[in-house]
Amino acid sequence: MSSIVTLRDLLVEEIKDLYSAEKQLVKALPKVAEAATDEQLRQTILEHLEETKQHVSRLEKVFAELDESPKAKTCEAMKGLISEGEKAIGQKGPDALRDAGLIGAAQRVEHYEIAAYGTARAFAEELDLPAVVELLQATLDEEGEADKTLSRLAGAVNRAACLAGVPD
Ligand SMILES: [Fe+2]
Repeated sequence: MSSIVTLRDLLVEEIKDLYSAEKQLVKALPKVAEAATDEQLRQTILEHLEETKQHVSRLEKVFAELDESPKAKTCEAMKGLISEGEKAIGQKGPDALRDAGLIGAAQRVEHYEIAAYGTARAFAEELDLPAVVELLQATLDEEGEADKTLSRLAGAVNRAACLAGVPD
């Protein structure tokens, strides 16, 4: 294991972790989209899948800026979030309840990424790496937008979930 002695080393570690996280998501999101019943939710997930592929390639540009070869270091947190998401995918019962659970799982993922990108961007700012800051900020903005869209969708989905399972 490479030792971390400078803030730059720590930034590279964060980028390797994010690279793993984003790649895990590219694999996981199609299953989330497939499980979603609400059409807008499904579309939002599919759009975020396309953005997530861009996040992977932006991180490759960050590696290039840092003169490092792109290397993923397994992000255990994302592994855990995805495995919780799989439970939401497999939930039986009313569709609206499953959708509500999927939104909850997706927002956990977004908030994790927002925290991780925010940390990496702050390191890059401190290290005076404006090109890296710009790349990380572009993804951070998209994660923030995705989170807001999910919050908006949760309004209608949660109302439907509240009515599901209630006897007439
Ligand atoms: Fe992302």
